Amino acid sequence: MDELLAEQVRYYRERAPEYDATSRPDGDPFANVTALAVGDLRRLGPVEHAIELGAGTGQFTGVLAEIAGQVTALDTSPEVLALNAAKVQAGNVRRVVGDVFAWRPAEPVPLVVFGFLLSHIPRQRFAAFWQSVGEMLALDGVAFVIDETPHGAWREETAAAEGDEGGAGRVVREGAAVGEVVVRTLRDGRRFRIVKVLWDPAELGGALARLGWETRLTRGDPFYWGTVRPVD
Ligand SMILES: C[S@@+](CC[C@H](N)C(=O)[O-])C[C@H]1O[C@@H](n2cnc3c(N)ncnc32)[C@H](O)[C@@H]1O
Repeated sequence: MDELLAEQVRYYRERAPEYDATSRPDGDPFANVTALAVGDLRRLGPVEHAIELGAGTGQFTGVLAEIAGQVTALDTSPEVLALNAAKVQAGNVRRVVGDVFAWRPAEPVPLVVFGFLLSHIPRQRFAAFWQSVGEMLALDGVAFVIDETPHGAWREETAAAEGDEGGAGRVVREGAAVGEVVVRTLRDGRRFRIVKVLWDPAELGGALARLGWETRLTRGDPFYWGTVRPVD
């Protein structure tokens, strides 16, 4: 794994205990938009088996447990999966520690879901990411994505603004463009570089069309969401 993506994995492992408290602004002003996305996700059920990539602490795992006979929740962080298990106490969820680029299911499934993972994939790895999703999907299967648009609701600290010597060149060599790398700070002050690519859904639809996917995406800032299917 690239050094930058490995740092991102470490970040989410270390952030696990504070993820739920810090992932949304106080009072969650975007709860209504999230509810619309979750409604669309629910309407994709019932399915026999759903895979959730980057399942995290379980923001969407409970919904999947309700609409799928079986859920496989994948994440590179055992720490978030432990919190996921405490939060989503459903007998039909299997949790697996693994990397989306390397892990494959025993059998392809009808539904693959990822919330707030695509924005952590550098553009250079975009095709490889969708190749992985395609290999997990059964014939007639569908992927569902929800993530951040290029909104102005909050700001990230870009890595280039850090001013570390040669930072920009270093970042490019590690497999991500300069503007794709941001710095996150944990409550104890430790800082990590992670990838953040905010897709406009129209631009994302175009990029996916070139890879042979068709999209039905809805924009409701600060999020977009919807289905992605391989073109026959
Ligand atoms: C922003 S969090 C989203 C978590 C959850 N889906 C949610 O909506 O709250 C991204 C998650 O993806 C996981 N992750 C990052 N890179 C990954 C990879 N290569 N393979 C699998 N999971 C990954 C992180 O550990 C983290 O839990």
